[in-house]
Amino acid sequence: MKFVVTAGPTREPLDPVRYLSNRSSGKMGYAIAAAALEEHHAVTLISGPVAIPAPAGAEVMRVTTGDEMFDAVAARLEHCDVLVMCAAVCDYQPAHYTPEKMEKQGGPFSLALVPTRDILASLTSRPHRCFVVGFAAETQELEAHAARKLREKNCDLLVANDVSRADVGMDSDDNELLIFFSNGERRKLSRAKKTELARALLKIILDAREKCLTKKS
Ligand code: C5P
Repeated sequence: MKFVVTAGPTREPLDPVRYLSNRSSGKMGYAIAAAALEEHHAVTLISGPVAIPAPAGAEVMRVTTGDEMFDAVAARLEHCDVLVMCAAVCDYQPAHYTPEKMEKQGGPFSLALVPTRDILASLTSRPHRCFVVGFAAETQELEAHAARKLREKNCDLLVANDVSRADVGMDSDDNELLIFFSNGERRKLSRAKKTELARALLKIILDAREKCLTKKS
């Protein structure tokens, strides 16, 4: 089967030396790519800038901005069976890119930001044949936000994690996942190493995809 996995953060440049980004390490997405490779699936890993090595055997597409990630995912969508959107895509980008380094001003300074394109929502609104897994990193009202994102982003499955905790989530080797299915079911994967969770999640994704295919046929 063909997997496309996005991982890591994106960066939105302000000027030649500055950018907006987030703390995503890429560990969860890389672990999912590795788990799929272990099971002999073909994997395209579309990665934002991270400091960890890519799993051997993956086709790796390195991107920086959300627009670059959009183009990479769109180019692979047609041939993909399972899309896992694990990347922490920046929600906003500077309204204007300044081609020269911005000089320091005395006093307060504010930046004008505009929303980035939602890669997941815009691609799932197009006709596609792949099973779509979204992620949601939340610091509050995890369940309500995750259930809404599952619906609004047209995912088959949404994986939520609480990033307000220091022991799991962003940049940690561990995670705890709450999985929301499109039929309303939920499942919790308790705290474990991201590598272990990725293997369990892979099984859940493939089972859910199988059920979904059976229902369609
Ligand atoms: O809205 P939020 O950023 O929490 O949504 C998370 C999910 O949406 C993740 O699967 C992420 O990869 C995806 N996303 C996206 N494009 C954006 C923002 C988020 O594809 N601009």
